[in-house]
Order: sequence, then structure tokens, then C-alpha cells
Amino acid sequence: MRKLISNNKIPKRELKVSNFSKVGIKSDEDKIEFDGKKLINLSSNDYLGLSSNKIILNESTKYLKIYGSGSSSSRLIAGNFNKFEEIETNLSEHLGFSKSIVMGNGFLVNATVIPAITRNTIGKKNKFFIFSDKLNHASINYGNSITNQKVFRYNHLDLNHLEFLIKKSQKNTEKIIITESLYSMDGDFADINGLRFIANKYNAILYIDEAHSFGVYGKKGLGISVNGSRAEREVMVGTFSKALGSYGAFIACSKDIYDLIVESCPGLIYSTALPPSVVGSIKAGIKILPKLSKRRERLIANSKFLIKKLKELNLDVGNSSSHIIPIIFNNFFKCEKIREELKRKNFFVKSFRHPTVPKNEERIRVSLTTFIKKNVIIDFLKVMENFK
Ligand SMILES: Cc1ncc(COP(=O)(O)O)c(C=O)c1O
Repeated sequence: MRKLISNNKIPKRELKVSNFSKVGIKSDEDKIEFDGKKLINLSSNDYLGLSSNKIILNESTKYLKIYGSGSSSSRLIAGNFNKFEEIETNLSEHLGFSKSIVMGNGFLVNATVIPAITRNTIGKKNKFFIFSDKLNHASINYGNSITNQKVFRYNHLDLNHLEFLIKKSQKNTEKIIITESLYSMDGDFADINGLRFIANKYNAILYIDEAHSFGVYGKKGLGISVNGSRAEREVMVGTFSKALGSYGAFIACSKDIYDLIVESCPGLIYSTALPPSVVGSIKAGIKILPKLSKRRERLIANSKFLIKKLKELNLDVGNSSSHIIPIIFNNFFKCEKIREELKRKNFFVKSFRHPTVPKNEERIRVSLTTFIKKNVIIDFLKVMENFK
């Protein structure tokens, strides 16, 4: 049991067991067992419910049986079987890039590709200027912090501030602008075309992390940045661990950046290739994705409904306009109280505190998936009515 908060101290993080089983469940059930109780999971990133999709499971099992349980070594040694290249060719073609590279996970990509693109090209300190949204994910901040380059953090989604910082910086330096397309703690979207305009104007690389939008938004679910023309020096990152219901991540980019990554990115060179069963599920997931427009539409309609109703209850959902919906209470203890109450009513949500979110913006966060039907949302709203 989580310790009662009796004093003003924020409790330590805990690694708690949440038992789940998804295979064979009804399509309207995504329950996890937490503290011995079965709860409706409102904190899942399995946005399209693909982690229990039969076609994906079959392909994954097939790969497991043919290729074994592990890939044996890094892709640069002996772990690079041909299915990786098939996935990469498919991604490059559909996303409009020359090249793509599949890697271990999204954290690994951001933590090691950003240093590869910036530090290693120059080999010197403070020669590459990094412009990063203040609310970018921890993996991006981590990648930035080990580049040895100058990092400017612009105010969240504030393109005027971004341009102000770019203008203030030295003219003849290489530049990279780093953004998420859909923010995982706030559920708001970046203005990708506005960022493209600025990136082109200042000849900067535009690095877009689509971890939470790949699968759900954009043409055929291929991400928000698939709509419109890519910037001249655009890079896209996506994960297979969220809407694709699997694991792993990719970066899609130009041939130059691809060469740089293969030559110098430690997360690719020094880490074992994804296991075949995961590669099988990624391959099948990418194939299915374009056919899921009905699911996406339903998820987006349910999200709009929930946001509207929470606003009617005078609850603060920030600027969310997606399936990721924060309910901000500015006080972690209040969030914990609400989380406990929701648990009593069979809902699982998490509360988030600093440094995951800014101080005084503590929140509980709901992420909707296609498992969560409207009647469940209505039941959830009935509990939330008590906290308006
Ligand atoms: C924006 C963003 N990038 C990267 C990641 C890390 O991805 P992964 O879970 O595949 O390591 C996350 C994880 O939630 C994320 O929110």
C-alpha cells in the first residue's frame, strides 16, 4: 500500500506492480490490477489497443519461432536481419524521407542521436546551438545535456521566443530546433508548419519527436508532420511503444544524418538489436496502421467529448486538444487525494509532480485509448464532478 501522506513531504517514487493481461480480453476492457484491485486503465499509451491485436500477435509469434528470442548482437555486428531493412524502407517511403533507422527505444534515440547529430559533427564545444522547447521530454533534455553544445530552452510552443533566441545567437553556427509534435504531459500540439518556416529561414535542422502522435494523428496515422511539406533539414522520431502497442523507435532523416548516426551514434552501435518477436510486431503494426482510421476517429471524438465535459465542470485541462488530457490542480497532495478516490471508484490514473511537470502545475493525467468507451468516460466524469 502506498504510504499515507501525513506530513508535507512528497512521497518517494515507487516501482509498484501493476498486473495486466490483455490477450483474449473484451475490446472494452483494459484493466490492470493495482493494490489488489482491478481498475480501468486511464494511463495507458496503447492508444489504438494494438498490443492485443491478433494479426500483430501472430506475426510476432511467427518471428519468435523462426528467428529465436534474441537478436544476439548489435545491428552493426550480427543482429541486423533483413526485416529491419524492410521496416525502414517502408517507413522512409511513407514518411517522405531518404532513410530511416530502427533503434531500441525512444529514450535511446533522443539520448544518443541528438549528441550524434550535434557534438560529433563538430567535435568542439559550443559550436552547435540547440533550441529546445522548455517542456520537451526528459530523454530530449538528457540528450541535449550530454552534447557539450549550447542549449537554449524556448518557452513552450512560443515561436516568437524561439526566433528571438535564434536571432540573438551567433550567425555562423549550426542550429537544431527540437520539438515534440504532441506533448505527453499537456496534450497540446506544436505548430509544425510555423517551426518549419523558422527552421528554413535560419537553415536549422528541425527535429520532431512524434512519440505520442505516431499512429493516431496525420494522414493514415503516420504522425502530424506527415501533413504538409517537410522542412529542408527535417528529422522525425517516432516510437513503436505507444500507439503501435509494441516496443522500439525510429528516426527518419536525410542520407547525411543517417550516415552520421550509423558512424557515430552509441545507442545504435553499442546496443543489442531489438528481439525478433518485437520486430515482427512492428512490421505487422505498420502494415495495419493505415486501415485504422475508424479507431482513430473514435478516439479523437471521445477525447473532444471528455475535454468539453471537464471544462464544463470548470476543471483545468490546460491547452489539451488530444487524447492526452491533464487535469491540473497545482497541488500534488490534492492530486493524490483525487487519484485515491478514483481508485476507490475503479479508475487507474497517475499523479505527476515536479520535475516531470513544472512546479505548481501538478496534475493527474488521463490518456484515452480505444478501449475506453463513452459510457466509461461518463462514469469517470461522475467522479470528477466531486472535484470541480
Ligand atoms: C516525447 C517522448 N519521446 C520519447 C519517449 C521515450 O520513448 P520510449 O518509451 O520508446 O523509450 C517518450 C516516452 O514517453 C516521450 O514521451
